[in-house]
Amino acid sequence: MLPSIASPRLHLSPVSDGDIGLMRRLNADEAVMRNLTRRPATAEETPAEWTERLQGRSDPGRGLGYWIGRADGVFVGWWGLGACSWEPSTANLGYRLRPARWGRGLATEGSRALLSHAFDEVGLATVWASATRWNRASQRVLAKLSMRYVGVRYDQCQFEITAAEWAEAARSRLRGPSSSRLAGCLQQTAMNGDNDEMAMVRAVRAHEIPGRRPIQVAVGQRVQVGSQDTTWPAFVFVTTEDGSGWVPARHIDTGSRPAVMLAPYDTTELATAAGEPLTVLVIDDTSGWTWVRNALGREGWVPSNTIEPIPVS
Ligand SMILES: CC(C)(COP(=O)(O)OP(=O)(O)OC[C@H]1O[C@@H](n2cnc3c(N)ncnc32)[C@H](O)[C@@H]1OP(=O)(O)O)[C@@H](O)C(=O)NCCC(=O)NCCS
Repeated sequence: MLPSIASPRLHLSPVSDGDIGLMRRLNADEAVMRNLTRRPATAEETPAEWTERLQGRSDPGRGLGYWIGRADGVFVGWWGLGACSWEPSTANLGYRLRPARWGRGLATEGSRALLSHAFDEVGLATVWASATRWNRASQRVLAKLSMRYVGVRYDQCQFEITAAEWAEAARSRLRGPSSSRLAGCLQQTAMNGDNDEMAMVRAVRAHEIPGRRPIQVAVGQRVQVGSQDTTWPAFVFVTTEDGSGWVPARHIDTGSRPAVMLAPYDTTELATAAGEPLTVLVIDDTSGWTWVRNALGREGWVPSNTIEPIPVS
């Protein structure tokens, strides 16, 4: 019997035959299926899918299978650790949520709980996951889980994480971001439900943004790589069908022809005024830029040397 698993906002209980009605409604939603089968499932397809998941891909005795997630008693979606009979040391992480609950960090939160279960309780050596090349939200979830991009297979971006990598990621989360400039302020920040640290900073000088339209590049996307930035040497100029912009070179596999993105990236910069308060969302120490949100809710990158912590009184 699979155990129930709790996370800060979710209660995950084993999927049973009685849940198929909920799964049918989930699979009937065009938005949910857009990046999967590209069309809502038929009435027959969902029971067949769940017979396969619950019989072919579950191993409850070992703690592997599928969980239904509820927040405050309301159905959110499902999460799974699909068992591989040919490779017992690994499992396939998956999830599918109701659109009304997207964008709140819940897929990431439930997946973290399952990865803890997979490594700490089941004792797996690795967990893998895949997302279609165009499923950027899912790729982002996998990146937030510290899963490593390993390549594209049959149009699916494959990701993996080992027990050692998971333990290191858990230690890093406890330590928090490593930026020494911001460390003092981050130590005093509140944690939101997704365990992402949020700190208030102030712009010490204005940041002006380029006139160029920002681009978003996905894992596995082919890009044309140009010159290295002279002011920001971590960046190279990238051109795609949608436009061009500066992207950290470490996010690109330049060894392949054409070059391929190893991690998603959004080149959006945020225009700031000196003295403006900002919320830190991501600190990229390696590139020297920080992703922030302003009081109007707009987000984008600013150079880390244009912001400073707001002292906490
Ligand atoms: C993919 C899915 C699970 C994400 O659920 P969710 O609860 O919204 O995920 P989270 O909130 O934990 O994280 C989503 C991240 O993707 C980002 N994102 C969302 N849409 C995006 C897009 N079009 N491009 C880039 N990033 C995007 C969000 O901003 C967020 O990242 P952030 O926290 O850095 O801002 C959900 O959309 C879903 O169930 N989709 C249908 C089924 C599916 O695709 N399952 C995955 C199969 S591989």
